[in-house]
Amino acid sequence: MTNVLVLGATGFIGSAVTRELIAHGHRVTALSRSSASDEKLKALGAAPLRGDLRNPEMWCTVIGECDAVVQAAATFSDDMGDVDEGVLSAIEATLDGRRERLRVVYTGGCWLYGKTGDEVADENSRFNPIRSFAWMVGNARRLVESEPISAAIIHPGMVYDADGGVFEDYIDAAKNGRPVEVWGDYDTRWPLVHRDDLACAYRLLVEAPEAEGHFNASAESGVRTGEIAADIARHFGRGSEVEIVSVDEVVGRYGDWAEGPTLDQQMSSNRLRDELNWRPKHGSYKGSDVFR
Ligand SMILES: NC(=O)c1ccc[n+]([C@@H]2O[C@H](COP(=O)([O-])OP(=O)(O)OC[C@H]3O[C@@H](n4cnc5c(N)ncnc54)[C@H](OP(=O)(O)O)[C@@H]3O)[C@@H](O)[C@H]2O)c1
Repeated sequence: MTNVLVLGATGFIGSAVTRELIAHGHRVTALSRSSASDEKLKALGAAPLRGDLRNPEMWCTVIGECDAVVQAAATFSDDMGDVDEGVLSAIEATLDGRRERLRVVYTGGCWLYGKTGDEVADENSRFNPIRSFAWMVGNARRLVESEPISAAIIHPGMVYDADGGVFEDYIDAAKNGRPVEVWGDYDTRWPLVHRDDLACAYRLLVEAPEAEGHFNASAESGVRTGEIAADIARHFGRGSEVEIVSVDEVVGRYGDWAEGPTLDQQMSSNRLRDELNWRPKHGSYKGSDVFR
């Protein structure tokens, strides 16, 4: 059994990672910002630890009792990179005099590879991040180069689950008879991974501290968003049409981050499959619980 501190355990990815770790016998302490989160975390089987990413010195002291930290939290604010950097500094400050290296599994993302088009990004591909997530490349590098830390940087593709995840807006539009909006182009491809398969990848990385560096996590390397939207419109829709919305329009509506879903990307996950024997159960979104 490993003692793991999970940051972001109430979130979409972090809650699934927490459930997976506990199901495999690990003990999880999880950062919480409210009594509602405390209850949610207890229901998952984790021990809540009150704290905020913005004040890491207040809770990082528990790292002395942890074998591993999973960083799956993000503020999604303009200063999210600085907040994340502050967390990394506070973690490193706890490691003086520690005998074992601390295992850290840090969340990156497919948007760090930028538009790949017909190339398939692997772990050796150059990063070309969208502007709003560019800070993540530097923070990931810092971890990989840190001597007292054994770091795995996991790059999830676009994450879906039975309730939708990245398909949520498509499903909501289809169910309510609105046009299903595809951002950018019908042929824009997304690397896809089911949340449960992703959680399994995090757990395998926690359990293999010798596996260091970058690991992509996608079960499907690139699926056309227009095709996904059409499948969802057909399954859930009441006559919903698929409608293309331009990149300028969505960036104007939602801000810089909206460039991410408009990237035409393909991403493989060879290191996870070859070195950690990761075998995603959801090989295709088409046969998944999204369409149950
Ligand atoms: N979802 C995807 O498809 C996807 C794909 C690739 C990469 N990623 C990356 O994965 C990471 C997690 O994404 P997600 O989709 O799981 O996000 P999410 O559901 O919004 O979860 C964010 C988590 O961060 C926590 N958090 C936010 N501000 C905090 C603060 N000030 N102090 C402590 N905790 C705080 C939230 O806690 P509260 O419950 O207290 O708000 C929540 O647990 C992000 O870095 C994202 O860029 C996501």
